[in-house]
Amino acid sequence: MTDTLTKLAYQTFQQGKSYFGVAHKALSTQLEQLAVGKRDNEIFPLSPDVVERIYNSLNQIIETDWNDAETGIYPVETLFDNSWGDFFQYYPLVWLDLPKIWDRVRNKQYQSFDSQIDLNDYPKYYRQNFHHQTNGYLSDLSANLYDVQVDILFNGAADAMRRRILAPLKQGLSHFAEVPPSQIRVLDVATGTGRTLRFLRSMLPKAALFGTDLSPAYLRKANQLLSQLPGELPQLCQANAEDLPYGNEQFHGVSCVFTFHELPGPARQNVIDQCYRVLKPGGTFVICDSIQKDDDPHLNPLLHNFQTTFHEPYHRSYSEDDMTARLERSGFVEIATQLHFMSKYWVAHKPA
Ligand SMILES: C[S@@+](CC[C@H](N)C(=O)[O-])C[C@H]1O[C@@H](n2cnc3c(N)ncnc32)[C@H](O)[C@@H]1O
Repeated sequence: MTDTLTKLAYQTFQQGKSYFGVAHKALSTQLEQLAVGKRDNEIFPLSPDVVERIYNSLNQIIETDWNDAETGIYPVETLFDNSWGDFFQYYPLVWLDLPKIWDRVRNKQYQSFDSQIDLNDYPKYYRQNFHHQTNGYLSDLSANLYDVQVDILFNGAADAMRRRILAPLKQGLSHFAEVPPSQIRVLDVATGTGRTLRFLRSMLPKAALFGTDLSPAYLRKANQLLSQLPGELPQLCQANAEDLPYGNEQFHGVSCVFTFHELPGPARQNVIDQCYRVLKPGGTFVICDSIQKDDDPHLNPLLHNFQTTFHEPYHRSYSEDDMTARLERSGFVEIATQLHFMSKYWVAHKPA
């Protein structure tokens, strides 16, 4: 009975976020058209059949999320860990930021940053207003708005998508049964505001957790949010994922969520090489990212619309990239893929 009620509560919670996401996107598109007119990009209309497929896969990922919690892969409470804690404080700023975004879109400005931001420390490919974000990843405002914006984009399922790395990672860590839980070391590469680290902490309350990112602002936000959790604070470090600041064979598990589509091809390979280098033999690497072209041909129009509407300069090349071949090139073996809702997963192992 309690389980049924909790499941209902979780489904209702997700449905609320999904409705909110749809309403926000519809309203902001309308407002943009009223204020500055239609964008001159080609958007493919989605057929009712495609919309139905999207909602079916959304329901499916929520069901899988519930099942993984119910079977004890992570605690049921994790399902209710939401990224909307700052909602009342920051959601109005999402709207206030929109006119700036529309302005940049109209003027085709994709690398626009406040003058006090020193861009020299960052690779060229990173100096972008990804998804038209004001100041890209390089401001505290961007870090404060990011979690809610991503959850709106994915109709409330962003965390359910992130949590799909947990089961394969836990399975991979079971190969280190002789290692005491407090000596298990897991790294989340390009952790952003640390959502994935939160979920890793709830699944592995004793493990030593590590997170890196290039953005000091996002790391500040991650530090603030992760400090609220009981247990040891994950160790955060500002670093380029192409050059991880760790010795060889340091981690039993490595994850990387929603980042590869924001890297050009050579950087993608460098990051995979680095993840391989820092993993212990027998360790597991799990990637979560966007679905790719032809994973579900019905969804190709949706991918096209995403690439056209958002500023995602490397998504097109990512969506046609053979990531399994890249993983093999680094030395990974036993590579499996999964699809959940709008995301794709690669689970890869370093030979023992
Ligand atoms: C779309 S966000 C994903 C963040 C987080 N993993 C999540 O699940 O929300 C991409 C993140 O990758 C980081 N990033 C991009 N390129 C990077 C690089 N070369 N090295 C380290 N971090 C990078 C950005 O700063 C940003 O935080």
